[in-house]
Amino acid sequence: MLRTLLSRSVLQKTTSSLAARSLAARSVSCTTVSYETVLVEKHENVALITLNRPKALNSINLQLIADLNAAVMAVNEDNDVGAIVLTGSKKAFAAGADIKMMEPLSFADTYKTGLFNDLEQVTKGKKPIIAAVNGFALGGGCELAMMCDIIYAGDKAKFGQPEITLGVLPGAGGTQRLTRSVGKSKAMEMCLTGNFIDANEAKQIGLAAQVYPNEELVVKSIETAKKIASFSKIAVAMNKEAVNVAYETSLQHGLDYEKRLFYASFATKDQKEGMGAFVEKRKPEFKDE
Ligand code: CAA
Repeated sequence: MLRTLLSRSVLQKTTSSLAARSLAARSVSCTTVSYETVLVEKHENVALITLNRPKALNSINLQLIADLNAAVMAVNEDNDVGAIVLTGSKKAFAAGADIKMMEPLSFADTYKTGLFNDLEQVTKGKKPIIAAVNGFALGGGCELAMMCDIIYAGDKAKFGQPEITLGVLPGAGGTQRLTRSVGKSKAMEMCLTGNFIDANEAKQIGLAAQVYPNEELVVKSIETAKKIASFSKIAVAMNKEAVNVAYETSLQHGLDYEKRLFYASFATKDQKEGMGAFVEKRKPEFKDE
């Protein structure tokens, strides 16, 4: 049955019909929207997206990818939202790609459908995303956290790339983003042993920016997101873009890119407002123009 459900043609059809269903999310209240596997709440100018597939420890299947993409797209289009927090449950941010979904797939299934390519959509928006990681962030879960712009870890968080134990390797950026983030030796150790690291080690090696007690993690993440959202959205997007370019290019090209964006920021009203407010010793009022 599972094999039939996941046959190639069904996989393709499922991807598009799930995306369509996700776009038609049920509205629960003016500030909360629920998708089948994702919840979105607005906290003033911050969107909190919660992965909500608890029985499978938020493991990532096609429905969750479609829901997450629809949610991220919607909040990116919401002019009131300046930053996003992505979280899971206390037990699991996400315990990886859905192994039960993947088990029957053939090479042709994965290759022809571009399995997990769609997860990269999360990285395409201009608004910064903080991953608030409680519990397990394994395999695709760790990869999803690394697609975000900042990782905050709860003190019970566990990060790992255990794909080796399943006879495969990371398939959503783990070997690439982890290596860029923590260096070759640690990334190799994590990918080749499948061992998990805890929150403190994640902070020590630069994977997580901060560690907070589990109960405070989401509140602290929203606090930081609100601070980011209080700044000029154009300046925030330019900062995000410039830091991300550092991953893609040589130092000189990155420095030139940053300089062009820096000069371009002088074409915004927010630059006049921000610098003017400093000179006049008052709080700036950014208009995102
Ligand atoms: N896929 C599908 N189901 C999963 C899952 C996953 N990645 N992780 C957990 N689950 C399910 C379990 O099968 C179980 O379901 P049932 O109750 O129906 O049996 C339920 O979630 C609860 O899990 P456990 O009973 O295993 O919970 P635990 O506390 O004993 O262990 C865990 C937690 C250590 C995270 C363990 O579940 C585990 O090792 N999960 C798999 C982690 C993993 O290998 N992730 C990598 C996936 S491959 C990948 O991600 C590829 C890629 O790069 C894109």
